Amino acid sequence: MQKLAIQGGYRLSGEVRISGAKNAALPIMCASLLTAGELQLGNLPDMHDVATMVRLLEQMGVRVDRTLQAATFNAAQVDQLVAPYDMVKTMRAAILVLGPLLTRFGEARVSLPGGCAIGTRPVDLHIKGLIAMGAEIHIEHGYIHATARRLHGAHICFDMISVTGTENLMMAAVLADGITVLENAAREPEVVDLAICLIAMGAKIEGAGSDKITIEGVGTLHGANHAVMPDRIESGTFLVAAAAAGGHVTLTHTRADILDSVLDKLREAGAKIDVNGDRIALEMSARPRAVNVRTAPYPAFPTDMQAQFMALNAIADGSAIVVETIFENRFMHVQELQRLGAKIEIEGNTAVIQGCRQLDAATVMATDLRASASLVIAGMVAQGETIIDRIYHLDRGYEHIEAKLSALGAKIRRIN
Ligand code: EPZ
Repeated sequence: MQKLAIQGGYRLSGEVRISGAKNAALPIMCASLLTAGELQLGNLPDMHDVATMVRLLEQMGVRVDRTLQAATFNAAQVDQLVAPYDMVKTMRAAILVLGPLLTRFGEARVSLPGGCAIGTRPVDLHIKGLIAMGAEIHIEHGYIHATARRLHGAHICFDMISVTGTENLMMAAVLADGITVLENAAREPEVVDLAICLIAMGAKIEGAGSDKITIEGVGTLHGANHAVMPDRIESGTFLVAAAAAGGHVTLTHTRADILDSVLDKLREAGAKIDVNGDRIALEMSARPRAVNVRTAPYPAFPTDMQAQFMALNAIADGSAIVVETIFENRFMHVQELQRLGAKIEIEGNTAVIQGCRQLDAATVMATDLRASASLVIAGMVAQGETIIDRIYHLDRGYEHIEAKLSALGAKIRRIN
């Protein structure tokens, strides 16, 4: 079991290159199942979940040729229409093969994802939408078994905004017979990036990025070449780390236009932020001011940035209120931050943080991907050496995070 050792108290300075977005790469890799043509993906991040998705697609029969930052996918010979439990249990995004398999091959057998640390995370909205499009679905032995001679268009209104639900049904609709309308659709930039890739493959999609997406089914899709968008959550994570540790950091190969809610909060905390094309520079010389955050679907403040801001507020001047409205159990990082001396009270989905001048190093345990990031940030500002255990959570969604942070001046190393 690998751990991270972090010596607190070092300011950050320099440039860091932002990687391709995990939550765009994962659905777009599944889109390769929609065609017998070759899908070439650039700016593919080198992280555990991407490797897991490659393995999942390969065991289905997709040929994947991978270099470090790019890969080509060829699903001409797919013969295993199954996503097995042992892969789905570690990565819920595997549910995203359901729509593509069903609409191209007429059948899919996908393990139910099961819960995870941040909540039960059902997939009922995915299933409800596919049934509306004519799928026959049986849940048996922990698997979703879906069949459909040919899916047909439908008018679907999501009870709740679901990012992968929107992505799954959008992919199911691109080869369905007729028009599909998705109402109350997710507006996340990663949904837009998937739509851009699907359109490049010949799909007819309008409205991606709005809450109403219209898809006109076509007979087949062809291959395409797509560069995955930059990771806005990795970007936000590095900006919060710099705001907490202090210093002057420039992110490159990123996008500021999809980070408005996060940049606004960092400015409110006292950071000086300059945007120039695909670069975002943050300068923080004083102690950050406490900022309230309330998570909500895009374009509001992202739930994937909540834990990182909790770490910032732990050492900020003043007290802050953090409200988590998306997941029912996304405060797993709180008890670990409290071990570092953070003063946090939880009441339901609301946390009140009283900023301290100083945190004290301790041994803590990562529980989920973004919680791990908040512990790294807290360790960078704690007095002494913090040890973070179970960092496989971190490796799922961040590309070489300790190398990137060390290059900026953090004292962070991986220990076995
Ligand atoms: C995506 O998860 C992201 N993952 C998550 O990022 C992100 O936190 C989340 O969207 C919210 O932005 C990927 O894109 C791979 P949802 P997803 O469906 O699609 C409920 C990370 O750290 N719901 O938008 O699984 C659900 O329980 C990860 O990178 C249903 O009830 O989230 C949740 O409370 C963590 N039924 C809410 O909706 C359904 O069928 C939003 O979930 C689907 C969802």
